[in-house]
Amino acid sequence: MATSSSPAWTATPATDASGVESTCKKYGLTVDEFHELRRRCVASKATAYCPYSRFRVGASVISVNNAYFDGANVENASYPVGTCAERVAIAKAVTEGHRKLRAVAVATDIAPPASPCGMCRQFIREFCALDGPIIMFDKDENYTVLRLQELLPLSFGPEALPSASSLPPV
Ligand code: THU
Repeated sequence: MATSSSPAWTATPATDASGVESTCKKYGLTVDEFHELRRRCVASKATAYCPYSRFRVGASVISVNNAYFDGANVENASYPVGTCAERVAIAKAVTEGHRKLRAVAVATDIAPPASPCGMCRQFIREFCALDGPIIMFDKDENYTVLRLQELLPLSFGPEALPSASSLPPV
């Protein structure tokens, strides 16, 4: 059984070319797309506004039209008002007209990789297929991938609300 001193997951170095190749095959990404997501989410950490937690998070998403959007966490003096990196990146995609995402990548300065918080998992659920990959990079760019349905089992989504499909898209 995993304890607090033995993480429940292992992370693969992004420099392991054959590991990245098999990850990409499994999750329907090209190797170039994987590395673009990696570079973007890692670089986005530098744009975080996190004077309170000092915990930088960068995120990047790729849409079904292969457009990339990046974000970072944006905190607030009124702590609960702060927004996570994943939601910043996804809101940018959505407000630019990209509502369907192929993959989400997130990077932090810790190891093992941090996974999206519960609120972000639900936010991702709105715009990403259940089998979509969530790629999590640690401080050294080692990564772990899980599908959205693994991070958020038995999830609640738009199809549960009939009004979401019977109305014109808004
Ligand atoms: N944070 C994210 O940006 N994404 C997550 O999924 C987890 C937490 C941010 C929120 C806050 O600015 C800082 O990390 C510490 O919780």
